[in-house]
Amino acid sequence: MAILHPLLLAFLLLFQANGNEGNNSGRFPVVISTWPFEEAVRAAWLAVDGGSSAIDAVVEGCSACEELRCDGTVGPGGSPDENGESTIDALIMNGITMEVGAVAAMRYVKDGIKAARLVMDYTRHTLLVGEQASAFAISMGLPGPMNLSSSESIQKWTNWKANGCQPNFWKNVMPADGCGPYHLQETGNACSKHNWIGETKLKTSHVGHHSHDTISMAVIDKKGHIAVGTSTNGASFKIPGRVGDGPIAGSSSYADDEVGACGATGDGDIMMRFLPCYQVVESMRQGMEPRLAAKDAMSRIARKYPDFMGAVIAINREGVHAGACHGWTFQYSVRSTDMDDVEIFTVVP
Ligand SMILES: *[C@@H]1O[C@H](CO)[C@@H](O)[C@H](O)[C@H]1NC(C)=O
Ligand SMILES: *[C@@H]1O[C@H](CO)[C@@H](O)[C@H](O)[C@H]1NC(C)=O
Repeated sequence: MAILHPLLLAFLLLFQANGNEGNNSGRFPVVISTWPFEEAVRAAWLAVDGGSSAIDAVVEGCSACEELRCDGTVGPGGSPDENGESTIDALIMNGITMEVGAVAAMRYVKDGIKAARLVMDYTRHTLLVGEQASAFAISMGLPGPMNLSSSESIQKWTNWKANGCQPNFWKNVMPADGCGPYHLQETGNACSKHNWIGETKLKTSHVGHHSHDTISMAVIDKKGHIAVGTSTNGASFKIPGRVGDGPIAGSSSYADDEVGACGATGDGDIMMRFLPCYQVVESMRQGMEPRLAAKDAMSRIARKYPDFMGAVIAINREGVHAGACHGWTFQYSVRSTDMDDVEIFTVVP
């Protein structure tokens, strides 16, 4: 604390010297997003630079990625589950009010971030799931029910079935190397050792650059207000019903106007056990720089899961940003007033 204190003081002085709330025209707006999702960042920038609120800009940006099906892992038509179906996880958070709206494992409706916003704006709830989330979204005017599969997702699923349903997300079940139905492994027999080896192999094989490319985006608008959003169709060959970190506040993203924001991507099943974005924002609240806050959140997970793959972006309310990653090289995109176009930042573990 003795080291952080002068920093905090400088931070406060800088903020005061830069004047009154409402004139941050030098530094804001800012848009930051996981991965080189340039079109999504441009869409959000166009909105927020034109005077839209941070929330509106997050919806514009994430919707652009859903329409473009960024990397096949956002929007419809990607990441088939074990039954070949694509479902959507999304979240939006307002850093002024701390309101959150989210949908999880939403079927038959392609507009994840818009559905999340409907939950936030028109209900007192935070998270709706499954087919009931779809019914809500449709009743509030979003298109559906529709088929979220694409010829690519069906092809990917067909290949996976042909490969004995490998890799998959099961553990300690029989059969270990074939398709289901699965049943509990008999305890105390010679197979248990074999299965643990199977599990270790699986950990490294089913997570890759193109299986967990969630968009998590933070926007600071011209008034200095902050919002975040996340949208993904989850992990390929997930067990039907699986909900990842995407719709979990504090895991995939988090925002507080008083502090800043965070977005995350990676192995959501592991990351959601640590709420990395909540931690990043709370670390910054204590005075930690975005870079250190981001690194600290990654290393806390790595101490328990050395093989996990993940990344976070952090931005404080001054617009200072950073990224940190573990297990893969990570890239994030930024557009701010001092740039002519979106810039890509590369982070190494
Ligand atoms: C806001 O601040 C910028 C730069 O600090 C300055 O150029 C601009 O004139 C100010 N605008 C208002 C409305 O005060
Ligand atoms: C959904 O679309 C996919 C890909 O075009 C197709 O293979 C599948 O049969 C469709 N499902 C239904 C129920 O129409």
